[in-house]
Amino acid sequence: MPFYQRLGDVPSKRHVQFRDNGTLLTEEVMGMEGFVGMESILYHLQSPCRVMKLGDFEEIERDEWVPDAHAHRLFNTYDIDPGGDEITGRRLLMWNNDVEISLCRPSESAEYYFRNGEGDEVIFVHEGSGTLETIFGDVPYTEGDYVVIPRGTTYRFRPDGEQRYLVFETPGRIEIPKRYRNQYGQLLEGAPYYHRDIHPPTQLNTHRDRGEFPVKVRVRDGYQTYVLDYHPFDVVGWDGYLYPWTFSVHDFEPITGRIHQPPPSHQTFQGQNFVICSFCPRMLDFDPRAVPIPYHHSNLQSEEMIYYVSGNFGSRKGVNVGSITLHPSGLPHGPQPGLAEKSIGVRETHELAVMCDTFHPLRLTKFAKELDDGKYAYSWYENAQNGDGAAAAETSADGDATGAGLTSHL
Ligand SMILES: [Fe+2]
Repeated sequence: MPFYQRLGDVPSKRHVQFRDNGTLLTEEVMGMEGFVGMESILYHLQSPCRVMKLGDFEEIERDEWVPDAHAHRLFNTYDIDPGGDEITGRRLLMWNNDVEISLCRPSESAEYYFRNGEGDEVIFVHEGSGTLETIFGDVPYTEGDYVVIPRGTTYRFRPDGEQRYLVFETPGRIEIPKRYRNQYGQLLEGAPYYHRDIHPPTQLNTHRDRGEFPVKVRVRDGYQTYVLDYHPFDVVGWDGYLYPWTFSVHDFEPITGRIHQPPPSHQTFQGQNFVICSFCPRMLDFDPRAVPIPYHHSNLQSEEMIYYVSGNFGSRKGVNVGSITLHPSGLPHGPQPGLAEKSIGVRETHELAVMCDTFHPLRLTKFAKELDDGKYAYSWYENAQNGDGAAAAETSADGDATGAGLTSHL
């Protein structure tokens, strides 16, 4: 997506004869927005329309939980049981018409092939590594990678070790924020990452096998299975702007200011009515008068979901690795009592967190209810009851004088 790529063999011109051992190859233009958006052109051994058998259609069911009270919430996800594969193991936590956010801790790897026919995906790899085999070639991934998969990409995971993902699926597009690019699409000097940090498919393997190959396609709010009589990765070459890629959260260059920088400075991707941000280890605000911890804020039109990836979040009561906080729209949120005072003079934070801010309300699932701690909404009140000093003393007792436990956004 971010720049032109080519893998394998393509003819010198578009839409001309191109043969493999004398057989005319099938050219497929895979593109967005009719014929005016980003596209890639793929050359197949077989027609990509060729289907041997239409399989089952499974409707997607979302088991909604409507809480009794509108409140800030904390979900502890780290101990969820492994289950399913990289697709069926996605357990929906929250969603709206723009984005679905799921956890996935697969216990097995899918043997079938998958394609999201109605949405782009970002898979944040919290734990594990492996290779995403795709119709565009192999995409190696490791812990900390955002794997960005445009709709229409047929793929299959080949995991190495235990896996844990945070998955975003959207009917819109996942894009690099426009303000990071110049009029030619090149990433600007001030952008928090550069083209060298973006990793397209590394190697194209053309498969010529015949047999029965099930492909599950997400379409019309469900999963339609097709059986092909040829391997779906039958591409001999492709070129264009549309392909899967990875970007490591560890390559995000955090922006620090003399005083507190707002969340948009951490933005990593833009979506349709939502953003994804990365909170990375960094130096904190350096003005002697600065309060390095965030000010209270009311994102009156946003829902703010933060997934805590690594670091010591001791300063945030009840928040551990794998925790998710949800600060819904219409309510103010901010540091718990005592933490603003404690933060003064702190020079750095070691946190790593992924945030998704949506501009429309998120609905919750019954799975979210199972993980809801039920007490988080009272955490400001409980600390106030203990006195500000008590809260500060509690966090200082972690022996964390460096700010390693200081959550720099919430
Ligand atoms: Fe916030």
